[in-house]
Amino acid sequence: MKDVIQELERRRDEARLGGGQARIDAQHKRGKLTARERIELLMDDGSFEEFDTFVEHRCAEFGMEKQKVPGDGVVTGWGTINGRVVYVFAKDFTVFGGSLSQAHAQKIMKIQDMALKNRAPIMGLFDAGGARIQEGVDALGGYGEVFLRNVLSSGVIPQISVIMGPCAGGDVYSPAMTDFIFMVKDTSYMFVTGPDVVKTVTNETVTAEELGGARVHTTKSSIADRAYENDVEALLQMRRLMDFLPSNNMDGVPELPTHDRADRVDHSLDTLIPDNPNKPYDIKELIGKVVDEADFFEIQDTFAKNIVTGFARMEGRTVGIVANQPMVLAGVLDSDASRKAARFVRFCDCFDIPIVTFVDVPGFLPGTAQEYGGLIKHGAKLLFAYAEATVPKVTVITRKAYGGAYDVMSSKHIRGDVNYAWPTAEIAVMGAKGAAEILYRSDLADPEKIKLRIDEYQKRFANPFVAAERGYIDEVILPSGTRQRICRALNMLRNKTLENPWKKHDNIPL
Ligand code: HXC
Repeated sequence: MKDVIQELERRRDEARLGGGQARIDAQHKRGKLTARERIELLMDDGSFEEFDTFVEHRCAEFGMEKQKVPGDGVVTGWGTINGRVVYVFAKDFTVFGGSLSQAHAQKIMKIQDMALKNRAPIMGLFDAGGARIQEGVDALGGYGEVFLRNVLSSGVIPQISVIMGPCAGGDVYSPAMTDFIFMVKDTSYMFVTGPDVVKTVTNETVTAEELGGARVHTTKSSIADRAYENDVEALLQMRRLMDFLPSNNMDGVPELPTHDRADRVDHSLDTLIPDNPNKPYDIKELIGKVVDEADFFEIQDTFAKNIVTGFARMEGRTVGIVANQPMVLAGVLDSDASRKAARFVRFCDCFDIPIVTFVDVPGFLPGTAQEYGGLIKHGAKLLFAYAEATVPKVTVITRKAYGGAYDVMSSKHIRGDVNYAWPTAEIAVMGAKGAAEILYRSDLADPEKIKLRIDEYQKRFANPFVAAERGYIDEVILPSGTRQRICRALNMLRNKTLENPWKKHDNIPL
């Protein structure tokens, strides 16, 4: 008996060493943790149970039969994060560069199947060189089956990807089909084809960082949702994120204890809006003052900053926040902001997370760049996402709500459940100046006259009361009482049931 236990320990020790001490040292030298170290940081102490520790590849090409490493380049299993079950796989770069063989893919599939069957989130930690070159089509087949599972799990369980090293070739598409992608600055990069292929095909000279580093994907392509300074910060933030997310699409949001009273009044909000309607203010100040303990997990914090998206809690329960940001481009909706918010709204709707929307939007951004870039379709994505969403939707218009953007931003007309406005709200087809200049074109030559017309329009429409008179706004509220109102509204909406007509799926403008 003692012998077999010793043999088990010996085999486990061998597996834990992955590609060997020299490669582990090289990994550390690059500022990266190993797959097992990452999992240890991510999961609750002692909760991780590894599966398939002894799985080996079955390739006999290129002398591979003589190179076998138990685990085959990916560590898989399950554990808990703050007490809740999460499945995880972590690519082990020390073993064949974390590349994907058929056996490696089957390990991931096993975890994906278990996560879906048991309705728990799954997280993938990526640090790999793509398809195992020695395996050829078996590796491609493996990828295809992993992708299929990503798609089938989408909208059923949260799927999170963290890119912590190279992520190239076949490895990029699985993260791309998950709900969120996070990256580590300087040590991670993602691209379909690397700098060498780019040089050959397009003659562009570009570094891996320039082609697919964290900066590119969090500011230009919007492929990644956030970037962190190092492995440790990324993993600790993933633990924080998981606390906001439901385990699946049926479970409802997690509920955490909070000391923040639902009826907390914040008088500083009564002076948040500047007297001059063209002066910006920081919408994040409002978010911080309204949500539980100012705890806000922002998604895509460095992309399309004219709209803010992220998770917070009200009375301990997760909400998704969408807010126009007057500090950036006056909070205008452009293509990027529309896409960013649309995807976030759809995530919330998939997972039954109520949506709180703060509106201060002067309209859609005019110009050829936007129109040629498909603003109509991108704007429609946000409109579509809000309109199809059946989760509780609470909207607060703080200042401007002009034109089509008024309709889009979770208005009553697209099934906003509770729509509040601050007394500073201006709800109209367009700003007073633009409106007067169109309606009274003949007065344009006379500055006195046109000013009177602008003032007249401003007085009549730049307020919340015209909309409130029609029931498009449920109540005009004091800014200081915003938290209390939202908490009450969300409580009132706890049992909301709303079903869209039966369909196989909708046809959101892509
Ligand atoms: C087998 C691989 C490998 C791979 C790396 N290795 N990638 N082995 N298949 N795809 C091995 C290396 O041989 C090396 O082994 C070890 O991993 C570390 O790699 P290095 O090159 O020394 O590391 P580094 O300099 O950090 O470069 C990392 C890298 C580079 C940028 C990822 O290895 C690389 O370019 N790899 C190939 C990427 C690629 O083209 N993948 C195939 C994509 S095609 P030793 O023994 O020396 O330590 C694809 C199609 C799928 O994925 C499509 C499905 C839809």
